[in-house]
Amino acid sequence: MQAGLEGIGIAVPTTYVELSELAVARGVAPGKYVEGLGVTRMCVPLEDEDTVTLAARAARMALQSAGCPPEQVGMLVVGTETAVDHSKPVASYVQGLLGLPTNCRVFETKHACYGGTAALQMALDWVHAGSAKGRKALIVCSDIARYGIGTPGEPTQGAGAVAMLVSDQPRLVVFEKGKTGVYSKDVMDFWRPLYSKDALVDGHYSVQCYLDALAGAYRAYQEAAGEEPAGEGLYSDRFAALVYHVPYGKMSRKAHRHLRTLDGDTDPDASFDRLVGSSLVLPSQVGNIYTGSMYMALASLLSTSREDLTGRRVGLFSYGSGSCAEFFSGVVRPEAQARVRSLGLEGLLERRRKLSIPEYEEVMRARERIDEKPVRDAPGTDFRYQGTRDHKRVYAS
Ligand code: CAA
Repeated sequence: MQAGLEGIGIAVPTTYVELSELAVARGVAPGKYVEGLGVTRMCVPLEDEDTVTLAARAARMALQSAGCPPEQVGMLVVGTETAVDHSKPVASYVQGLLGLPTNCRVFETKHACYGGTAALQMALDWVHAGSAKGRKALIVCSDIARYGIGTPGEPTQGAGAVAMLVSDQPRLVVFEKGKTGVYSKDVMDFWRPLYSKDALVDGHYSVQCYLDALAGAYRAYQEAAGEEPAGEGLYSDRFAALVYHVPYGKMSRKAHRHLRTLDGDTDPDASFDRLVGSSLVLPSQVGNIYTGSMYMALASLLSTSREDLTGRRVGLFSYGSGSCAEFFSGVVRPEAQARVRSLGLEGLLERRRKLSIPEYEEVMRARERIDEKPVRDAPGTDFRYQGTRDHKRVYAS
């Protein structure tokens, strides 16, 4: 039995900041953010957007684009590190907003940016084991990345959600059963204390932890996959594309250089545009979305690559600080690229409104109190966070 992605959906906030303008405001050369980090724009959520509304919008797109009625969903998992409650999962709100059935397993997973991959792997096992019985799993990665104004991490913020419909009828990507390599280690590279909305990070150490985890997971993948995928030359040339977790574009470049060096490539940057370039088009306009970053990069590859990827193998590397990482692979299905292109993801990003730097700073300050915001009507007809009443979050749908 095959298992993989039948549909995908993306949601991003309606506003963004231009990184070159942020650099000027911080007294930094724009080249540091745009070329040095590889980020052009980053999404900024307004007061009526949170992890729940982003997740619900992405999930609705995934269901609608696959033509899947809500009653076919038998499992809903939201991977996030931006929870809205210590107890009630984001997934329960999403279930309510989308009208998913009651005979559905609903919960949240957490392990920094790896939380969504943990959920995806669980869903694939659920399908392979036959427990799905023809029903589908909805896996949603939704996060708001925050480091705070004036911190080194500030230009690597972002917000957004990616939803994936997982089933035994994959029309986008079939994930290769058993071909995964895992690496985990207790490290203190990035964390988000319960008392803080902003993440704390040991920035340069986190880069090293990511690269160590990549080496470990890639080695474990090769052991698990054996001689497959077969081929001559460098191991990573057996993939048509490599999709890395993207906290910022330059991290993918560092990752690729590391992986090719492990392969014995003496010119490790030469293959970057060919194997990685298309996966960074959308992430460079969105910023870090934590759990969803690698899946946004996968959507970017399918949406923007000019190569015909049909039947070709893609390597995926997911990294969650703290840490847990996984390297796994999938094969692109016929028509997958046309299906993802028809979602109009680049147009979605174009329709956002730019915030000036003072406007962005005001939004950041307002979000510090967002969990206690009194209920008031939010404009628009889409899913909106309206505030809290009697300590309960209220959403417009
Ligand atoms: N023009 C072009 N490039 C320039 C430049 C200029 N004028 N000025 C500087 N640069 C380059 C630097 O050479 C450097 O490139 P290299 O890394 O290739 O050497 C790059 O810009 C960044 O410069 P610095 O290293 O000096 O930047 P920094 O110390 O201010 O911060 C950071 C960088 C550590 C990544 C920081 O943004 C940060 O802490 N980010 C959050 C943590 C993070 O994303 N970690 C990634 C791994 S962990 C993970 O992946 C999980 C997750 O999602 C968080």
